[in-house]
Amino acid sequence: MGDEVQARLEGLRAQLDHHNHCYHVLDAPEIADAEYDALFDELIALEAAHPEHITQDSPSRRVGAAPLAEFAAVTHEVAMLSLEKTATPEELNDWANRCRTRLGDEIMAFCCEPKIDGVAVALIYEHGRLAQAATRGDGRTGEDITANVRTIPAVPLRLRGDGVPTRFEVRGEVYIARRDFAAFNERAQQRGERTLVNPRNGAAGSLRQLDPKLTASRPLTIYCYSLGWVEGDWRPQTQMEALEWLAAWGLRTNPEATLVADLDACQDYIDDIAQRRGSLAYDIDGVVVKVNALDQQQRLGAVTRKPRWAVAYKYPAQEATTQVLGVEFQVGRTGAITPVAKLQPVFVGGVTVSNATLHNMDEVARLDLRIGDRVMVRRAGDVIPQVASVITEQRPADAPTIELPESCPACASPVVRPEGEAVARCSAAPTRCPAQRKEGLRHFASRLAMDIEGLGEKLIDQLVENGLVRTPADLYRLRDKNLSELPRMGEKSAHNLLDALQASKSTTLARFIYALGIHEVGEATAQSLANHFGGLDALCAATPEVLEVVPDVGPIVAEKVTAYFDDPDNRAVVEELVKAGVAWPAIEAAADSLPLAGQTWVLTGALKRMSRNEAKEKLTGLGAKVAGSVSGKTAQVVAGPGAGSKLAKAEQLAVPVMDEAGFMDFLSIHNAL
Ligand code: IVH
Repeated sequence: MGDEVQARLEGLRAQLDHHNHCYHVLDAPEIADAEYDALFDELIALEAAHPEHITQDSPSRRVGAAPLAEFAAVTHEVAMLSLEKTATPEELNDWANRCRTRLGDEIMAFCCEPKIDGVAVALIYEHGRLAQAATRGDGRTGEDITANVRTIPAVPLRLRGDGVPTRFEVRGEVYIARRDFAAFNERAQQRGERTLVNPRNGAAGSLRQLDPKLTASRPLTIYCYSLGWVEGDWRPQTQMEALEWLAAWGLRTNPEATLVADLDACQDYIDDIAQRRGSLAYDIDGVVVKVNALDQQQRLGAVTRKPRWAVAYKYPAQEATTQVLGVEFQVGRTGAITPVAKLQPVFVGGVTVSNATLHNMDEVARLDLRIGDRVMVRRAGDVIPQVASVITEQRPADAPTIELPESCPACASPVVRPEGEAVARCSAAPTRCPAQRKEGLRHFASRLAMDIEGLGEKLIDQLVENGLVRTPADLYRLRDKNLSELPRMGEKSAHNLLDALQASKSTTLARFIYALGIHEVGEATAQSLANHFGGLDALCAATPEVLEVVPDVGPIVAEKVTAYFDDPDNRAVVEELVKAGVAWPAIEAAADSLPLAGQTWVLTGALKRMSRNEAKEKLTGLGAKVAGSVSGKTAQVVAGPGAGSKLAKAEQLAVPVMDEAGFMDFLSIHNAL
């Protein structure tokens, strides 16, 4: 009996270890979360019934250690070094030359890895079991954070596979992935709990919790990148080989680690990662270049606290502190009013930044930002600079708070902020607010919309301010003589602009829909709408119910689309654009996606409940074509009182006929009334 229990316990632990490894180390889960949970629950129940069989490396033992009074000190058997920094190709070249000279001109290959912006830890495995985890500390003495590190799902409590050394120390970086960081903060904010300042601080703070339960609640993970020391016979030849073994034993290693043959290839790697920096799943501050052969590493040795065999290539910092000089409120295309912090210019992420978006007033409140505050500014990848946090300790006395203006800074209409919404808006219609108008035109001309080359921000401002353009349709009415009135507009640029406008007229339906700037209709939604309706008429006529059939379109988008086309001003602009010659190749509406796709209907006689035009719109909205005469191909005739020859023709050709009451029922069944 005892043996059976033990066998089942061991089986469960092995399965849980396996699935944990698939999920947290390989990013490739093999079972659903619920199935994992069921296995886990079974383990917990079985262990509760047989506490004598609980082992320290059981997956149930990750969390549960009691809070500590303080962390014990740990002496590192091999010091944890830091890295020499380089920031230019020349400095990297000098480093490699020094290595080569020391090695008597031997050929070197390099292992390049992203330099993760997290917290260094040293893990000791004894007989394949996690025995100790420590921080770097001052390099010689760190803190024992074993109980905390045990809660990190990507850290195996026991290693798998063959050839695991009796005792060894592996080093790595504990970090929080960007997406996990954002999700964690969103939840914390919803619950009114403290948010983390940035992923690095979050990781460091989480490891320093005396209560491991708190650590367990933080989304930490790890990449292992080197060996401290090894007891046993295992002697890998290279850094790359060491990484492969570590991965084989179940430790998480970075798939971006790459073997490169020479310094040019290092530079290519550095440039490539720099390019992709913003889209990596985690924050990095550079690349680590390591001499790949471990015997070369050993011969190169170390100076004071830094190895000679590795170097950090640092990218420009993505964070810097500066002062908020003021806050401006910008009015967007949809009237949304965005607070923007005006900053004392600061060099961050490789550029000088003097503005940072504050998103909305909720964000201002969350940051507790005041004018004059010192702030941490963050610019990751291509993203707009953000204010990451406020250094409240340095707040000047009487720093003014930031208030939402009562009227639109562009048109002075009242600013409204609906209950429960984060975004405040200018209450004026887009055509009546110059800021909304300009932003709308900017959007219309933008690359993914009508792609009007040369029609940039400054020119749009000029055109609007000189009263030459109010709506997108006005753009196509511009002539040489209008443009020549503008200051700084040469004959050649005027010509180029008119050519670009002409060229932009041939477009696609999706681009055109996107260009209109309907609230909530981004590129992808515009594409779905174009595919679904195939033409503008059907889209204009569609009711919310019909729209909601379109993939990706929910009630909110449906409401915005109908509201847009219900507005006579918008209709007029759309018609004028089409009249001006904006055109697109015909596309087939998605087959079967509309209930009446492919059908031709005919309306005849009088209708009492709606006008002929309304009826026609309802039908086109459902995908039908509406024709003026009956033929053998007519799918359906709707005949009101007074119908004459068309009804007779339908009867003759056995085309189905319905009366007005039947038509109303039909529309209501299709949610089109
Ligand atoms: S190797 C001798 N590889 O950078 C030091 N370090 O400044 C060997 N780091 O404390 C370190 N990613 O916390 C190495 N792929 C990587 C790294 C990495 C981040 C950190 C590590 C270390 C610091 C060195």
